Amino acid sequence: MNVIDQYKWRYATKKFDAKKKISDSNIELIKESISLAPTSYGLQLFKVIIVENQEIKNELKKASYNQSQISDASHIFVFCNSTKIIGDDIDTYIKNKSSIQNKPISEISGYGDFLKTTLLKKEHKKVSIWTANQVYIALSHLMTFCPSIGIDSCPVEGFDSYKYNEILNLNNRNLNSTVVAAVGYRSNKDSSQYEKKIRKSNDELFETI
Ligand SMILES: Cc1cc2nc3c(=O)[nH]c(=O)nc-3n(C[C@H](O)[C@H](O)[C@H](O)COP(=O)(O)O)c2cc1C
Repeated sequence: MNVIDQYKWRYATKKFDAKKKISDSNIELIKESISLAPTSYGLQLFKVIIVENQEIKNELKKASYNQSQISDASHIFVFCNSTKIIGDDIDTYIKNKSSIQNKPISEISGYGDFLKTTLLKKEHKKVSIWTANQVYIALSHLMTFCPSIGIDSCPVEGFDSYKYNEILNLNNRNLNSTVVAAVGYRSNKDSSQYEKKIRKSNDELFETI
């Protein structure tokens, strides 16, 4: 399948086969696809909590308007944006850059100072919007990668993020649950897989000037 065919194969899965589990090696590949998503300044100001524990999935389902995808999917990826930027976030990036690209800290610390001056003064509200936007790019990486290994997904925004934050203990970690991906294998009883996609015509969606 080429990429366009994979996009057509993917659909927001409404009913997962609860018996089918994703292998550890495929979970590692999905993680890599998320990790390779671009982020502003490369800071990756988010965390992804991967839930495979059935009891926690059942809890999360209750906080997701009882959507069965949350309890039946093999794994739930909860994308959490950082609600605050701290100096450590930037120091960690500079240390990583130094060791991965073999550059002395002294050569790149000026860039770290620039990032601190620019970012640490950002209002908390604006930080949250900025980091949440980037989480969606990471979600998109997961959703576009999964079909290439025959894995289904459902993006989910229909959940109570306050309750998720409580269940996953995110409040004291400067994290907020932004969006979720239920990931697993479609049930052959899921009728939505056979439905045609509803999309605007290109004339409606695009404008070339
Ligand atoms: C950010 C986002 C949030 C969504 N939230 C839900 C959700 O809570 N429950 C659900 O069943 N589908 C959800 N969807 C799936 C959309 O309804 C679906 O992608 C859209 O109708 C297009 O259908 P398709 O993905 O099957 O092509 C969400 C999609 C996105 C991108």
